[in-house]
Amino acid sequence: MTSTEEGRQKYDALADRYEEIYFYVADVGRELVSLAEPPAGARLLDVGAGRGAVARAALARGCAVTAVDASAGMVSRLAADFPEMVVRQGDAGALGFPADSFDVVTAGFVVQVLASPAAALAEFRRVLVPGGTVAISLERQEVGRLAWLHDLNRAFFGGGDGAAPLTAEELDELLVSAGFNPPTRATVTIPKHLPDPAALWDWLALQGVPAVVDKLPTEKAVAFREQFFRGAEKMHRDSGIVLEFAATLHRATAP
Ligand SMILES: C[S@@+](CC[C@H](N)C(=O)[O-])C[C@H]1O[C@@H](n2cnc3c(N)ncnc32)[C@H](O)[C@@H]1O
Repeated sequence: MTSTEEGRQKYDALADRYEEIYFYVADVGRELVSLAEPPAGARLLDVGAGRGAVARAALARGCAVTAVDASAGMVSRLAADFPEMVVRQGDAGALGFPADSFDVVTAGFVVQVLASPAAALAEFRRVLVPGGTVAISLERQEVGRLAWLHDLNRAFFGGGDGAAPLTAEELDELLVSAGFNPPTRATVTIPKHLPDPAALWDWLALQGVPAVVDKLPTEKAVAFREQFFRGAEKMHRDSGIVLEFAATLHRATAP
Protein backbone atom coordinates (compact mmCIF):
# COMPACT_ATOMS: atom_id res chain seq x y z
CA MET A 1 0.00 0.00 0.00
CA THR A 2 1.15 3.51 -0.71
CA SER A 3 0.03 7.04 -0.11
CA THR A 4 -0.15 7.69 -3.85
CA GLU A 5 -3.20 7.98 -6.06
CA GLU A 6 -3.66 4.21 -5.85
CA GLY A 7 -3.84 4.46 -2.06
CA ARG A 8 -6.33 7.33 -2.21
CA GLN A 9 -8.59 5.38 -4.56
CA LYS A 10 -8.42 2.36 -2.31
CA TYR A 11 -9.62 4.37 0.70
CA ASP A 12 -12.21 6.24 -1.34
CA ALA A 13 -13.69 2.88 -2.28
CA LEU A 14 -13.62 1.67 1.33
CA ALA A 15 -14.98 4.84 2.90
CA ASP A 16 -18.65 3.81 3.19
CA ARG A 17 -18.08 0.52 4.97
CA TYR A 18 -14.66 1.17 6.49
CA GLU A 19 -15.53 0.73 10.16
CA GLU A 20 -17.87 -2.18 9.40
CA ILE A 21 -15.00 -4.10 7.80
CA TYR A 22 -12.32 -2.98 10.24
CA PHE A 23 -14.41 -3.70 13.32
CA TYR A 24 -11.54 -2.97 15.72
CA VAL A 25 -10.59 0.60 14.78
CA ALA A 26 -13.15 2.32 17.03
CA ASP A 27 -11.90 0.45 20.12
CA VAL A 28 -8.27 1.05 19.22
CA GLY A 29 -9.02 4.73 18.54
CA ARG A 30 -10.39 5.13 22.07
CA GLU A 31 -7.38 3.31 23.54
CA LEU A 32 -4.99 5.50 21.57
CA VAL A 33 -6.59 8.70 22.82
CA SER A 34 -6.56 7.35 26.41
CA LEU A 35 -2.86 6.67 26.03
CA ALA A 36 -2.22 10.19 24.69
CA GLU A 37 -4.19 11.66 27.64
CA PRO A 38 -4.99 15.01 26.05
CA PRO A 39 -6.44 17.52 28.50
CA ALA A 40 -9.81 19.04 27.56
CA GLY A 41 -9.21 21.89 25.15
CA ALA A 42 -5.97 20.41 23.77
CA ARG A 43 -5.38 21.14 20.08
CA LEU A 44 -5.26 17.65 18.59
CA LEU A 45 -4.38 16.80 15.00
CA ASP A 46 -5.50 13.36 13.78
CA VAL A 47 -3.61 12.36 10.65
CA GLY A 48 -5.10 9.78 8.27
CA ALA A 49 -8.33 10.15 10.21
CA GLY A 50 -10.42 7.78 8.06
CA ARG A 51 -14.00 7.76 9.35
CA GLY A 52 -12.91 9.30 12.65
CA ALA A 53 -12.13 6.35 14.95
CA VAL A 54 -9.45 8.35 16.77
CA ALA A 55 -10.76 11.85 16.13
CA ARG A 56 -14.20 11.25 17.62
CA ALA A 57 -12.64 9.78 20.79
CA ALA A 58 -10.62 13.00 21.05
CA LEU A 59 -13.76 15.09 20.55
CA ALA A 60 -15.42 13.14 23.36
CA ARG A 61 -12.57 14.23 25.65
CA GLY A 62 -13.17 17.86 24.80
CA CYS A 63 -10.22 18.36 22.44
CA ALA A 64 -10.23 20.90 19.63
CA VAL A 65 -9.81 18.41 16.78
CA THR A 66 -8.34 18.92 13.33
CA ALA A 67 -8.53 15.87 11.04
CA VAL A 68 -6.51 15.31 7.88
CA ASP A 69 -6.87 12.52 5.35
CA ALA A 70 -5.60 11.98 1.82
CA SER A 71 -8.85 10.39 0.62
CA ALA A 72 -11.57 12.74 -0.64
CA GLY A 73 -14.18 10.08 0.20
CA MET A 74 -13.06 9.90 3.82
CA VAL A 75 -12.79 13.68 4.13
CA SER A 76 -16.29 14.40 2.83
CA ARG A 77 -17.85 11.84 5.18
CA LEU A 78 -15.81 13.12 8.16
CA ALA A 79 -16.88 16.69 7.51
CA ALA A 80 -20.53 15.64 7.30
CA ASP A 81 -20.40 13.41 10.40
CA PHE A 82 -18.43 15.81 12.64
CA PRO A 83 -19.25 19.45 11.90
CA GLU A 84 -17.40 20.44 15.07
CA MET A 85 -14.06 19.23 13.62
CA VAL A 86 -11.78 21.11 11.27
CA VAL A 87 -11.39 18.65 8.37
CA ARG A 88 -8.80 18.95 5.60
CA GLN A 89 -7.71 16.80 2.69
CA GLY A 90 -3.93 16.52 2.86
CA ASP A 91 -0.80 14.43 3.00
CA ALA A 92 0.81 13.15 6.19
CA GLY A 93 4.23 13.98 4.75
CA ALA A 94 3.40 17.64 3.99
CA LEU A 95 0.74 18.75 6.43
CA GLY A 96 0.83 22.43 5.57
CA PHE A 97 0.18 23.68 9.12
CA PRO A 98 2.62 26.13 10.75
CA ALA A 99 5.22 24.76 13.19
CA ASP A 100 4.11 24.39 16.83
CA SER A 101 0.37 24.35 15.96
CA PHE A 102 -0.78 21.32 17.97
CA ASP A 103 -0.49 19.89 21.50
CA VAL A 104 -1.14 16.31 20.35
CA VAL A 105 -0.79 14.46 17.04
CA THR A 106 -2.47 11.08 16.58
CA ALA A 107 -2.29 8.63 13.70
CA GLY A 108 -4.34 5.43 13.84
CA PHE A 109 -3.11 2.68 11.48
CA VAL A 110 -1.62 5.22 9.12
CA VAL A 111 2.19 5.16 9.24
CA GLN A 112 2.14 1.57 7.99
CA VAL A 113 0.43 2.58 4.74
CA LEU A 114 2.77 5.47 3.95
CA ALA A 115 5.58 5.37 1.41
CA SER A 116 7.76 7.32 3.85
CA PRO A 117 6.81 6.95 7.52
CA ALA A 118 9.97 8.94 8.41
CA ALA A 119 8.78 11.98 6.45
CA ALA A 120 5.42 11.86 8.24
CA LEU A 121 7.03 11.57 11.69
CA ALA A 122 9.23 14.59 10.90
CA GLU A 123 6.04 16.52 10.02
CA PHE A 124 4.32 15.40 13.24
CA ARG A 125 7.33 16.67 15.20
CA ARG A 126 7.36 19.97 13.31
CA VAL A 127 3.70 20.80 13.94
CA LEU A 128 3.84 19.77 17.62
CA VAL A 129 4.65 22.27 20.35
CA PRO A 130 7.69 21.50 22.53
CA GLY A 131 6.49 18.97 25.11
CA GLY A 132 3.65 17.89 22.78
CA THR A 133 2.60 14.26 22.44
CA VAL A 134 2.44 11.94 19.46
CA ALA A 135 0.35 8.74 19.69
CA ILE A 136 0.37 6.16 16.91
CA SER A 137 -1.23 2.75 16.45
CA LEU A 138 0.32 0.04 14.35
CA GLU A 139 -1.31 -3.19 13.21
CA ARG A 140 0.47 -6.28 14.45
CA GLN A 141 1.06 -8.66 11.61
CA GLU A 142 0.02 -11.95 13.16
CA VAL A 143 -2.18 -14.43 11.35
CA GLY A 144 -2.85 -16.62 14.42
CA ARG A 145 -5.60 -19.16 13.91
CA LEU A 146 -6.47 -17.74 10.49
CA ALA A 147 -3.17 -19.00 9.05
CA TRP A 148 -5.14 -21.52 6.95
CA LEU A 149 -7.02 -18.66 5.26
CA HIS A 150 -3.81 -16.75 4.51
CA ASP A 151 -2.36 -19.95 3.02
CA LEU A 152 -5.50 -20.44 0.92
CA ASN A 153 -5.29 -16.86 -0.39
CA ARG A 154 -1.63 -17.27 -1.23
CA ALA A 155 -2.30 -20.58 -3.02
CA PHE A 156 -4.97 -19.01 -5.25
CA PHE A 157 -3.77 -15.43 -5.61
CA GLY A 158 -0.02 -15.53 -4.84
CA GLY A 159 1.49 -12.50 -3.14
CA GLY A 160 3.18 -12.30 0.21
CA ASP A 161 6.43 -11.22 -1.44
CA GLY A 162 5.91 -7.46 -1.05
CA ALA A 163 7.81 -5.11 1.24
CA ALA A 164 7.95 -6.29 4.86
CA PRO A 165 5.47 -4.39 7.03
CA LEU A 166 6.74 -1.82 9.51
CA THR A 167 7.41 -3.43 12.90
CA ALA A 168 6.81 -1.92 16.34
CA GLU A 169 10.56 -1.83 16.95
CA GLU A 170 11.19 -0.01 13.67
CA LEU A 171 8.48 2.53 14.47
CA ASP A 172 10.03 3.27 17.87
CA GLU A 173 13.42 3.75 16.20
CA LEU A 174 11.88 6.07 13.60
CA LEU A 175 10.25 8.14 16.36
CA VAL A 176 13.62 8.63 18.04
CA SER A 177 15.27 9.43 14.68
CA ALA A 178 12.59 12.08 14.11
CA GLY A 179 13.70 13.76 17.34
CA PHE A 180 11.09 12.46 19.80
CA ASN A 181 11.95 11.33 23.32
CA PRO A 182 12.13 7.53 23.72
CA PRO A 183 8.59 6.17 23.21
CA THR A 184 6.49 3.94 25.42
CA ARG A 185 4.49 1.10 23.92
CA ALA A 186 1.35 -0.85 24.81
CA THR A 187 -0.38 -3.78 23.11
CA VAL A 188 -4.11 -4.18 22.56
CA THR A 189 -5.92 -7.28 21.33
CA ILE A 190 -9.47 -7.23 20.07
CA PRO A 191 -10.92 -10.64 19.29
CA LYS A 192 -14.18 -10.92 17.37
CA HIS A 193 -16.10 -14.18 17.62
CA LEU A 194 -18.13 -15.20 14.59
CA PRO A 195 -20.99 -17.69 14.87
CA ASP A 196 -20.24 -19.88 11.86
CA PRO A 197 -18.35 -20.24 8.56
CA ALA A 198 -21.02 -18.25 6.71
CA ALA A 199 -20.35 -15.26 8.95
CA LEU A 200 -16.64 -15.45 8.09
CA TRP A 201 -17.56 -15.51 4.38
CA ASP A 202 -19.83 -12.48 4.95
CA TRP A 203 -16.92 -10.62 6.58
CA LEU A 204 -14.75 -11.41 3.55
CA ALA A 205 -17.61 -10.30 1.32
CA LEU A 206 -17.47 -6.84 2.92
CA GLN A 207 -13.91 -6.69 1.61
CA GLY A 208 -14.94 -7.73 -1.88
CA VAL A 209 -13.39 -11.21 -1.73
CA PRO A 210 -16.23 -13.13 -3.48
CA ALA A 211 -16.09 -10.69 -6.39
CA VAL A 212 -12.37 -11.37 -6.77
CA VAL A 213 -12.87 -15.13 -6.46
CA ASP A 214 -15.57 -15.02 -9.14
CA LYS A 215 -13.04 -13.56 -11.57
CA LEU A 216 -11.04 -16.80 -11.36
CA PRO A 217 -11.71 -19.50 -13.98
CA THR A 218 -14.90 -21.31 -12.89
CA GLU A 219 -13.13 -24.47 -11.74
CA LYS A 220 -10.74 -22.49 -9.57
CA ALA A 221 -13.51 -20.33 -8.12
CA VAL A 222 -15.46 -23.45 -7.12
CA ALA A 223 -12.31 -24.97 -5.62
CA PHE A 224 -11.62 -21.80 -3.61
CA ARG A 225 -15.11 -21.80 -2.11
CA GLU A 226 -14.93 -25.52 -1.29
CA GLN A 227 -11.55 -25.18 0.38
CA PHE A 228 -12.63 -22.04 2.20
CA PHE A 229 -15.70 -23.70 3.72
CA ARG A 230 -13.72 -26.85 4.55
CA GLY A 231 -11.10 -24.74 6.39
CA ALA A 232 -13.74 -22.63 8.11
CA GLU A 233 -15.76 -25.70 9.24
CA LYS A 234 -12.59 -27.18 10.72
CA MET A 235 -11.78 -23.93 12.56
CA HIS A 236 -15.38 -23.78 13.79
CA ARG A 237 -15.17 -27.34 15.14
CA ASP A 238 -11.67 -27.05 16.60
CA SER A 239 -11.65 -23.68 18.32
CA GLY A 240 -14.52 -21.52 17.11
CA ILE A 241 -14.16 -18.80 14.51
CA VAL A 242 -12.36 -15.82 15.95
CA LEU A 243 -10.82 -12.87 14.15
CA GLU A 244 -7.86 -12.10 16.38
CA PHE A 245 -6.83 -8.55 15.90
CA ALA A 246 -3.82 -7.00 17.69
CA ALA A 247 -2.10 -3.64 17.58
CA THR A 248 0.70 -1.79 19.30
CA LEU A 249 0.17 1.75 20.58
CA HIS A 250 3.18 4.07 20.63
CA ARG A 251 3.41 7.31 22.60
CA ALA A 252 6.27 9.79 22.62
CA THR A 253 6.79 13.42 23.52
CA ALA A 254 8.62 16.16 21.68
CA PRO A 255 11.54 17.61 23.67
C1 LIG B 1 -6.03 2.22 7.73
S1 LIG B 1 -6.87 3.74 7.55
C2 LIG B 1 -6.98 4.34 9.23
C3 LIG B 1 -8.12 5.30 9.48
C4 LIG B 1 -8.29 5.77 10.93
N1 LIG B 1 -7.13 6.47 11.41
C5 LIG B 1 -8.63 4.62 11.85
O1 LIG B 1 -7.90 4.40 12.83
O2 LIG B 1 -9.65 3.98 11.59
C6 LIG B 1 -5.62 4.76 6.87
C7 LIG B 1 -6.11 6.15 6.49
O3 LIG B 1 -4.98 6.92 6.11
C8 LIG B 1 -5.31 7.68 4.97
N2 LIG B 1 -4.07 7.98 4.25
C9 LIG B 1 -3.36 7.15 3.44
N3 LIG B 1 -2.26 7.80 2.99
C10 LIG B 1 -2.27 9.03 3.55
C11 LIG B 1 -1.42 10.16 3.47
N4 LIG B 1 -0.29 10.14 2.74
N5 LIG B 1 -1.75 11.26 4.15
C12 LIG B 1 -2.88 11.32 4.89
N6 LIG B 1 -3.74 10.27 5.00
C13 LIG B 1 -3.43 9.15 4.34
C14 LIG B 1 -6.28 6.81 4.20
O4 LIG B 1 -7.07 7.55 3.30
C15 LIG B 1 -7.09 6.17 5.34
O5 LIG B 1 -8.22 6.92 5.66
